[in-house]
Amino acid sequence: MKLVKLIANLGYGSRKQVASMFREGRITDATGEVLYADDRVDHAAIRIDGEPLDPPAGLALMVHKPVGYTCSTKDSGRVVYDLLPPRFRLRAPLLSTVGRLDRDTSGMLLMTDDGQLLHRIVSPRARLPKVYEATLASDLRGGEAATFASGTLLLESENSPLAPAAMEVLGPRQARITLTEGRYHQVRRMFAAVGNHVEALHRPRVGGLSLGDLPAGQWRVLDADDLSTLFDV
Ligand code: URA
Repeated sequence: MKLVKLIANLGYGSRKQVASMFREGRITDATGEVLYADDRVDHAAIRIDGEPLDPPAGLALMVHKPVGYTCSTKDSGRVVYDLLPPRFRLRAPLLSTVGRLDRDTSGMLLMTDDGQLLHRIVSPRARLPKVYEATLASDLRGGEAATFASGTLLLESENSPLAPAAMEVLGPRQARITLTEGRYHQVRRMFAAVGNHVEALHRPRVGGLSLGDLPAGQWRVLDADDLSTLFDV
């Protein structure tokens, strides 16, 4: 791919703007040698204003989504893209969220521009476990784990029952839920179905991958090892 297109596709500017960055000598190789638009150079060797280029297409990220951010590009409030460098929103192919977390849910959100990877993660056949920790408004009654594990729980306005889900009690009003599907507001609706209310919801893990010590609001690029850990369940 031509350098101008490659750099424009990473969101650094329109092709016209990137062409003028070349003319201004802002695009160099790792030794500081000025590059020209038709040079052939490895992605890893390119610098813009001395900084390495953002990762190429095939990007996968883990974001620690704080409460208050929406998984959308267009919401009028804060959106998860606000947590990333602004040019990430302008990349081609597009960087999209892998599934969604509600505005009021915190935790691990995956993002990628790789359609096949996205499909592998969200596909119901992958049955990748998603782990949630819920803080509840009322004490657990004792029957919830059996109800969620039954595979017969039918949520309001749905016509097929939920797949069995595992629940561990973490405290009188705290539970860890492991889902292998992702229906709209699923955890909140599951607790509503058993007469409770979720006050806070956090997702610490997807598949074999945990947030670890990534602080809220921060993100990191996933490498090949992270991706194999993700699917290693
Ligand atoms: N279930 C919910 O209710 N909300 C989420 O964000 C994810 C799962």
